[in-house]
Amino acid sequence: MAVTLDSARELDRQDPLATFKERFALPEDVLYLDGNSLGAQPLAARKAVTETMDQWRDELIKGWNQGWFDAPERLGNLLAPVIGAGEGEVVVTDNITLNIFKLLGYIIGQRGDGGGVVLSEGGNFPTDGYIAQGFSRFGGHQHRFLPEGASLEAHLDGVDVVVLSQVNYRTGALRDMAATTRLVHAHGAEVIWDLAHSAGALPVDLNGSGARYAVGCTYKYLNGGPGAPAFIYVQRGHQNSGWQPLSGWHGHVAPFAFEADYAPAGDITRFRTGTHSALAYSALEASLAMWAEVDMHALRDKSLAMSELFRDCLADLLEPYDITDITPAAGERGSQVSLVAAENGFAIVQALIARGVIGDYREPGLMRFGFTPLYLSFEDVWQAARHFREVLESGEYRESRFKVRSAVT
Ligand SMILES: Cc1ncc(COP(=O)(O)O)c(C=O)c1O
Repeated sequence: MAVTLDSARELDRQDPLATFKERFALPEDVLYLDGNSLGAQPLAARKAVTETMDQWRDELIKGWNQGWFDAPERLGNLLAPVIGAGEGEVVVTDNITLNIFKLLGYIIGQRGDGGGVVLSEGGNFPTDGYIAQGFSRFGGHQHRFLPEGASLEAHLDGVDVVVLSQVNYRTGALRDMAATTRLVHAHGAEVIWDLAHSAGALPVDLNGSGARYAVGCTYKYLNGGPGAPAFIYVQRGHQNSGWQPLSGWHGHVAPFAFEADYAPAGDITRFRTGTHSALAYSALEASLAMWAEVDMHALRDKSLAMSELFRDCLADLLEPYDITDITPAAGERGSQVSLVAAENGFAIVQALIARGVIGDYREPGLMRFGFTPLYLSFEDVWQAARHFREVLESGEYRESRFKVRSAVT
């Protein structure tokens, strides 16, 4: 390989984030390059969930007054610095799909005439488009797709709200949040940012970019656990402009007054809906406490260096094995490497998983490898690339067992 194991080890010796790895429970003999789908388990999360189980056992319903009920706002404040938001601008709640629906209704509702046009990106993670379509179907709104790769500016006429990912889930392409937000606002529209592949993957600056609305999940780079709750960001000054459509009791100004009529809370709490899982929030809270110690610029440097190392190690294999590297240049990507092998992509990923190198596969032909600086070392990346080479050169990916498909790829 073009890069030596010694040089990877040298990078580990100089790594300011190296000690974070000890704070994760990682199976022996697994090289995990799928933290962009489901993050690894922080040791502190297991402890926190156990403590919450004990609290449930001992305190029963009193637990809701011992930190469970206000966890959505408390965790929102813990998360805020990681995404460049301020105190009181983030609430941890529901999932991305529901949160986009809430924001669409909140923004479009401000028009006051029942009309409105929602634009979502072709080539984005499908749920963003699906929910925009569902939203439009049940109101007098229209939904349009921005064709993949087309100019946003050329499609903004008459649009009220655009749903955009900061980092594309397939290619890893990074949008310029500040410039795009300015462009959309200049056209009299609003933008909902989907941070699924950027929160915890790179420094995000919502306030500095002038962003008013965003959603994101915590089960990927933020290590909140499988099915961990998502979040909503609404810029201060824009939190009191109408109802969001999922007007549940936890978003009410006085949920325990049990009034017949809905009256939204005057702050970020309005974006809550109903009862959440105290157990799930406790795992995430433990992880977010760790994130408070992370230098996001060091994280970005390491993420780019690791993804570059992986690409360098594999560069000579691409042409002979008909693999295309569609990963954008360093400043223009998130924290993943995207390789397309139209014919053998699925089988190559399965063969790697059989060797303990876990990446993932997305149709059509896309092999994704996520780089999570807190629990991956440069040596891990080098070893993963070595396995990749062996899988190709030995031809083991051609074995029939690597063609069998499960429900989740
Ligand atoms: C960009 C993007 N948006 C949304 C989602 C999923 O959202 P939800 O939390 O509703 O499952 C994903 C999941 O991978 C995603 O990558």
